Amino acid sequence: MQITVNGSAHKVEVEEDMPLLWVLRDELKLTGTKFGCGGGFCGACTIHLDGQPVRACLTPVSFAEGKKITTIEGLSANGDHPLQLAWIEHNVPQCGYCQSGQLMSAAALLQQTPNPDDKQIDQAMTGNLCRCGTYPRIKSAISAAAKMKAAAKIKSAATKEGNADV
Ligand code: FES
Ligand code: FES
Repeated sequence: MQITVNGSAHKVEVEEDMPLLWVLRDELKLTGTKFGCGGGFCGACTIHLDGQPVRACLTPVSFAEGKKITTIEGLSANGDHPLQLAWIEHNVPQCGYCQSGQLMSAAALLQQTPNPDDKQIDQAMTGNLCRCGTYPRIKSAISAAAKMKAAAKIKSAATKEGNADV
């Protein structure tokens, strides 16, 4: 079976119904995606399939064939996604175990809703559990990242305009 993860094609010799989580972790050694409950309840294993957040523990690898799989390792080239920067600034992680799943859910939210209000953040993040209780910091960091993204957009539009004047 051939799958595309973080922009690279991989051939994997596995059963079609193997959960994508195990293919990522055990076959491809992408261990940033975590195993929590194994039943779709905790969100620790959240990845993107064609930009949509999904639970890798419930997704058979065959379902991901032909789709773009993105894991935490592929969220940004240098760990500089606005969410990752905001996470550092707001000191979000405690033990850290749930955080790659949290970041992937948050990234999908900002992709679909660039300027989410508190209710939209709560709704999008409701399936991601954190035993350490970092929820308030997660929420602040998501709002900060949304602002960061908006500011970067304005800056890049201004630069383009400036260049056009030259
Ligand atoms: S490990 Fe997938 S939702 Fe908990
Ligand atoms: S930071 Fe420990 S479970 Fe979320």
